[in-house]
Amino acid sequence: MQTVDYKQVPGHWILASLGKRVLRPGGLKTTRWMIEGLDVTGQDEVIEFAPGLGITAQITLRLNPRRYIAIEQNEKAASIVKTYASGANREVIIADAEQVPLPDASATVVYGEAMLTMHPRAKKAQIISEARRLLKTGGKYAIHEMCLAANDIEPELRKQIYKDLAVAMRVNATPLTVSEWEQLLKEEGFKVVKIYTVPMHLLHLPRIIQDEGWLRFGKIAFNLMRNRAARVRVMGMRRQFVKYADHLQAVSIIAER
Ligand SMILES: C[S@@+](CC[C@H](N)C(=O)[O-])C[C@H]1O[C@@H](n2cnc3c(N)ncnc32)[C@H](O)[C@@H]1O
Repeated sequence: MQTVDYKQVPGHWILASLGKRVLRPGGLKTTRWMIEGLDVTGQDEVIEFAPGLGITAQITLRLNPRRYIAIEQNEKAASIVKTYASGANREVIIADAEQVPLPDASATVVYGEAMLTMHPRAKKAQIISEARRLLKTGGKYAIHEMCLAANDIEPELRKQIYKDLAVAMRVNATPLTVSEWEQLLKEEGFKVVKIYTVPMHLLHLPRIIQDEGWLRFGKIAFNLMRNRAARVRVMGMRRQFVKYADHLQAVSIIAER
C-alpha cells in the first residue's frame, strides 16, 4: 500500500489497494448474468480480456473450460491471476487486448469487464475487432461496461460527465449509451444477442456488501478509515457516481460472431 500514489493512480487501483476485488460497474450479479449467457462448458476455449484481480477468472475456471487464457496489461494483476490460472491449458499473457499475440480463431468465448470504457472510441473499436479476430465463427463475445442511461443524452451533459469522471477516476472514462455500445459491436461484425442493464452502484454500500461480503467490507472500511489520501479519492469518485446516478448505468451485452 505504501507504493500507491494516491493522488494520481486510477480509481480502480485505489479500490484494489483498500481490499476491494470486484471492480466492474454492474457488480457480481451482472458478471453472473454474463457468464450464464456465455454458457461456458468443458468444450470451450475462453479468452478473458483484462481480468484485473481474477474474480471472474475464478468463476469461469470453476466451469472447467478446455482452455482459459487471460490477457492483462498490468503485470501485478497478471501475477495475481496466474495464481488462479496455472497448469495445463491455463495461461496469463501480459499484453494489450488491442493486439493479442494469439492466432485467429483461437477461442469459442471472449469476454472483458470494465476495460473498454476507459479507452477512446478508436481503441474500443480495435479491442472489439481483436475479440472478433480471436473468435471462431459462432463464438460468443461479452462485454460488461459503464453506460449512459439515456440514448438521447444532451451533448453538453455527456461532456460534463466525461470531464467529472476523468478528474475523479484519473482515467478517461467515456461510457457510451446502450445503443452506441450495440452499434460499435455491430460495426465490428457482431450480432447482439442479449442486453442487461443495472444501476451504476459500484460504490453504493449495499452493492459493496453484496459483492465483497461482510468480512471484506469491514476490512475495506477499516483501511479507508486509516488512509486519508485514499478516502479523499474514494469520496471524490462516489460523489460523481451519486451526482450522476440518473445518467450512469452498467451494461452487459452478449454478442455472437
Ligand atoms: C477497472 S479494472 C477491471 C478489472 C476486472 N475486469 C474487474 O471487472 O474486476 C480494469 C482492468 O483492465 C486492464 N486493462 C485495461 N485496458 C486493457 C487493455 N487494453 N488490455 C489489457 N488489459 C487492460 C487493467 O490493467 C485493469 O486490470
